[in-house]
Amino acid sequence: MCGIVGYLGPAKAAPVLISELRCLEYRGYDSAGVAIIQDGQLSVLKAAGKLGNLEKLISERKPTATVGIGHTRWATHGVPNDQNAHPHLDNSKTIAVVHNGIIENYEEIKEELAKAGYTFESDTDTEVVAHVISQEYEKEQDMLKAIFKAVGRLRGAYALGVVSQKHPDKIYAVNQHYSLSVGLGHNESFLASDSMAVRQYTNKVVRLEQSEVAEITVDGVRLFAFDGKEVKRRPVSLDSNPYVIDKGGYKHFLLKEIHEQPLVLRQTLAKYLVHPTKPVSFIPHITPHGNQPTSPSLPTNNEEDNLLSKSYGVHLTDMELKGIDRIQVVACGTAYHASLIGKQIIEHLCNIPVAVDIASEVRGRRLMVNESSLTIAVSQSGETADTLSALESAKKLGSFTLGITNRPDSHLAQITPNLIVTECGIEVSVAATKTYLAQLTAFYLLGIFLAEKRGSITPEQAKGLKTQLNAVPTLLEQILARESDIRTASLKYADAHDVVFIGRGLNFPTALEGALKLKELSYIHASGYAAGELKHGPIAVLDSKVPVVTIIVPGSVYEKTLSNAQEARARNAQMIAVAVEGDELVAKHFDTVLSIPPVDEFFSPLLTVVPLQLMSYFIADYLGKDVDQPRNLAKSVTVE
Ligand code: F6R
Repeated sequence: MCGIVGYLGPAKAAPVLISELRCLEYRGYDSAGVAIIQDGQLSVLKAAGKLGNLEKLISERKPTATVGIGHTRWATHGVPNDQNAHPHLDNSKTIAVVHNGIIENYEEIKEELAKAGYTFESDTDTEVVAHVISQEYEKEQDMLKAIFKAVGRLRGAYALGVVSQKHPDKIYAVNQHYSLSVGLGHNESFLASDSMAVRQYTNKVVRLEQSEVAEITVDGVRLFAFDGKEVKRRPVSLDSNPYVIDKGGYKHFLLKEIHEQPLVLRQTLAKYLVHPTKPVSFIPHITPHGNQPTSPSLPTNNEEDNLLSKSYGVHLTDMELKGIDRIQVVACGTAYHASLIGKQIIEHLCNIPVAVDIASEVRGRRLMVNESSLTIAVSQSGETADTLSALESAKKLGSFTLGITNRPDSHLAQITPNLIVTECGIEVSVAATKTYLAQLTAFYLLGIFLAEKRGSITPEQAKGLKTQLNAVPTLLEQILARESDIRTASLKYADAHDVVFIGRGLNFPTALEGALKLKELSYIHASGYAAGELKHGPIAVLDSKVPVVTIIVPGSVYEKTLSNAQEARARNAQMIAVAVEGDELVAKHFDTVLSIPPVDEFFSPLLTVVPLQLMSYFIADYLGKDVDQPRNLAKSVTVE
């Protein structure tokens, strides 16, 4: 989703802004722009489409300015075009603003401003911010004071970068329930909505907290609360090695990330599971041993922020853990699907009721949590506005809170004292794959952890579960080794217009996730259903043109799932199964089998999703889709 960057120092600003924006590109965007101050004049260059379009403009103009702000936009108010791209200017064309988030009362403000004679060039909510700051500046003749006054008039969750032609030696930044970091270099400073973007230049970062304004110069940064009081905060150090964002020889990041899954699992397990005979511990051991991965490690983010990395983990006391009588999970999209499996894992191992809600559905409702509940927010990015807001609601009701994320430097990490960090490295492809598997792994570990603390499983059972979990990465490698068979099998269905996915129990969420992957990557319409629900309505869509993908593994729901698949077969649907190798019944009843190695039903969701990820990838690639950045999608969804 939207990204903010800024630079001021001795170098030419435009190339620095572009390289910062490149780091945020993976988050998804539809236009980009920069505002620079050149020879005392503010000038704006912006273009719809990919960053390359903006780069072209810059290379034609060759600006030598050394101060500027930049932005990648993901449209919320107004279509993605040049006019609606950020930065936006005030009417005097001396103040430029870039903005992430939403100004909820912008209609109201726009009306007021229009009455006062202000004119608008875009359909965005951002443009009103430029006008409001300008209006306040007219009165105050001081940028900081103008910004303090302006933020008092704005409602919503947002982050801003602001430059003014009258103050060419400064950049201003505002953070209201968002993320912004200032990177401090030698006689130069950087601004970014994700510290990843400044890491290539400096490892010294000051993070803005909620309701703060920053005044940035080449010498450093001053922070203020919205009431104008100065706030002192020491910079934190980032790992000095920038994340390496490269495809490692794969055609797409997505394929690379699917292939990284065995390693991701090994790393996440190594972090929290020393040995099958030892209890799971969420106070991460910095130097893992026992089952430490032997293969080269991914660039992990647990070293990312020295200060943060020391504090994460689960810090609830044994008494508190034993007293939990209800768990509420909130998440969106793929993380929601992982959470649906998490519910079944925890209920099975711990006998605690677990409710899972789509985070955006929590708004306006009373969450059923209290002081003896644990609310878990699951978010790979740790920046998803809906998830953060749902967790905040639970906090207000007195619930204990826990985050599961891949980003220990995220907003989520700041708002909960308990954090399980997955070890995926950066996930560049917009569609989540390796982070989904890591979230599932975190749930298996959490289930075992809670069961050990509460005594709901025996040490022998715990040891057996951990041993099975440790075996999963090798099984994943076996699936990935069959990639070319999965490609051949998948492409037979590349001309489908509708695909139905069904599964039961632990693999019902796998059906949801398989359908989500296929539709977001290939734009083929796909829906996932509980297999038993097929006959209650969805079966009406089936005919010989509709492939039905059934996830079916031996265990408690095998026969019932097979019966539901038969119902689809009787309607002439094209039958695809994800099933264990050598299953003769499946071979008899299905046209195509995407096979996985034999696995206990309880751990099967860690395997069954992988052929579905590959199937979606191969179909999307074959259809010529933008696999890593599907249309309309953003990696980090920071608006509600
Ligand atoms: C789908 C996908 C999204 C995210 C969702 C939540 O492939 O990636 O559905 O899962 O936007 O994002 P996070 O996990 O960052 O909160």
